Amino acid sequence: MEGFSGVNDIGAVVEADRVHVWHHLSQHKQYETVDPRVIVEGKGMRVWDAMGKEHLDAVSGGVWTVNVGYGRESIANAVRDQLIKMNYFAGAAGSIPGALFAQRLIEKMPGLARVYYSNSGSEANEKVYKMVRQISHRHHGGKKWKILFRERDYHGTTIAALASGGQAQRNAQYGPFPDGFVQVPHCLEYRKQWDVENYGERAADAIEEVILREGPDTIGCLVLEPVTAGGGVIVPPTGYWERVQEICRKYDILLHIDEVVCGVGRTGVWFGYQHYGVQPDFVTMAKGVASGYAAISCTVTTEKVFEMFKDDASDPMSYFRDISTFGGCTAGPAAALENMRIIEDEGLLANTLAMGDRLMHNLSALMDRHRVIGEVRGKGLFCGAELVADRGTREAADERKVAAVVADCMAQGVIIGMTNRSVPGFNNTLCLSPALIATADDIDEITGAIDGALGRVFG
Ligand SMILES: Cc1ncc(COP(=O)(O)O)c(C=O)c1O
Repeated sequence: MEGFSGVNDIGAVVEADRVHVWHHLSQHKQYETVDPRVIVEGKGMRVWDAMGKEHLDAVSGGVWTVNVGYGRESIANAVRDQLIKMNYFAGAAGSIPGALFAQRLIEKMPGLARVYYSNSGSEANEKVYKMVRQISHRHHGGKKWKILFRERDYHGTTIAALASGGQAQRNAQYGPFPDGFVQVPHCLEYRKQWDVENYGERAADAIEEVILREGPDTIGCLVLEPVTAGGGVIVPPTGYWERVQEICRKYDILLHIDEVVCGVGRTGVWFGYQHYGVQPDFVTMAKGVASGYAAISCTVTTEKVFEMFKDDASDPMSYFRDISTFGGCTAGPAAALENMRIIEDEGLLANTLAMGDRLMHNLSALMDRHRVIGEVRGKGLFCGAELVADRGTREAADERKVAAVVADCMAQGVIIGMTNRSVPGFNNTLCLSPALIATADDIDEITGAIDGALGRVFG
């Protein structure tokens, strides 16, 4: 068990967890008969659970986060050194790592200029929504206050973030939601809504239809994931993003790209939107920014937007009156700086493109062996395989069987994910997002496990 050093009396830990911890996204009834899973150690691509069992993690900490892999001493040391020197001061003041990381980040995001720190993806997105509302009040006489979001996208867990969420099962039972969030159709061609040649442009035109229906002078912002994550790993069709940009410019709508999952290398470029040549007004990011070594999120915007909050210093209400207490923690940017250095020095963007190709190739090859795979989709080390009961009708596979595939892989010691409580009837996509350090052997082990699991579950 190389890499696993064990824990004294782990049974007591598991019991404390069972009795006192409320796990995320979990039905706890199961823990009356089986032990909750406790992960105790990680190294590289691998994690060990409380029983000492080794797993290859194909989802970077479950939710596409640990991009540079586990056990990075250099990040731990950077955080430790920073905490001893200066751990925290409220974000009304600057910090050394905060200033330096902002500079490094902006170098990678031409056209953008300012970084606002907070500590979760949901919060980073809410900052944008608040900025849009304040711009509406101060610059548009109360118009342009609505925020468009897309069916199947997810932008976070708080009530306003859920209001901008396009996954009905995530939102159900948590309403009522605040006003001013309007849904546009998804762009997943495999689940076609229009029978046309140029699907990408058509799906983007559907956004324009919503804008015209609502009234362009009511719409302030459009928020989209570059590649939809939890809604089914949806890579937008050709032509989609270009048309989205045109529409936003035509109607003077700010474009907010939620890079909470794709940001900082996941798709093989620094930011997912950079595959498509679009120029956003806001970019938000969280998970991979510091690979989970510290909590950090960033809301990045242009100098033009920033100027709108400093145009009248005589007005005490003109600036962005927002604070995030833990946005002032220095551990986040200290970890993020070292995380970025690792990605550069180890050539992890190139590795992500190469290993992403291998993953897509392997998954495509599995389609020949397993008719249950309806489509494989992906960009870099961010891939999905949509499972169907019938390739002809594209009827979604039973989600209990999809879950059985995930469980079978887990039993084999490979952790994969699936769309979970997202779109009703469509919790049928296997999700893969291994760390950007994955090797060819890791990729083959992941797809080998899926091959075996599909054979056992679907025959
Ligand atoms: C695209 C996207 N945006 C935002 C969030 C919310 O991030 P957090 O859980 O850090 O609030 C998530 C989380 O999964 C996400 O996938």
